[in-house]
Amino acid sequence: MLDLLMSRRSIRKFRDDDIEEEKIQKLLKGVLTSPSGRNIRPWELIVVHDRDKLKSLGESRGGASRALGNAPLAIVIAADPKATDVWIEDASIISIIIQLMAKSLGLGSCWVQVRKRNTVDGKSVDEYVKDILDIPEDYVVESMIAIGYPDEEKPPHREEELPYGKVHYNKW
Ligand SMILES: Cc1cc2nc3c(=O)[nH]c(=O)nc-3n(C[C@H](O)[C@H](O)[C@H](O)COP(=O)(O)O)c2cc1C
Repeated sequence: MLDLLMSRRSIRKFRDDDIEEEKIQKLLKGVLTSPSGRNIRPWELIVVHDRDKLKSLGESRGGASRALGNAPLAIVIAADPKATDVWIEDASIISIIIQLMAKSLGLGSCWVQVRKRNTVDGKSVDEYVKDILDIPEDYVVESMIAIGYPDEEKPPHREEELPYGKVHYNKW
């Protein structure tokens, strides 16, 4: 686990290769174990491999969403705010578990933020994504995780860079 965490980096350039269906199913199996408050599981996952849709999603936020433009796969996480008051936590947890599962399967990934973000021409990214993927109006899109075989190398996190100063013992 520590090796996985130290070597996970945000990957924004992907090879053109599709991800094997078996791998996608394994990833989803792991991801669906995600914990959620009171086990409500307020999220829905939209698995996107349609290249045209990926390209449109990648154009939502300019540079901030460029990882999606060349990814063979994205998982879009939407949640129902009416289901629970901790839907943001639940949607965030499943988002990072997608990234960790991807890493464990030899895949790279990048989180693209949707909630509270605007498109390059000032519209809500939430609405933009909902239109492309037919997501019901009463859901909120938290994030889109771009996934694929890495086409860039990034060094692992180094021990010296870890913010140990943010850790407090017994009091602040
Ligand atoms: C809540 C959240 C939102 C993020 N939003 C974006 C984003 O919109 N676009 C992007 O390219 N990366 C995004 N990232 C990735 C961060 O930039 C990245 O995790 C951070 O710079 C640390 O780098 P590392 O993931 O390589 O360790 C986001 C990450 C998180 C956790």
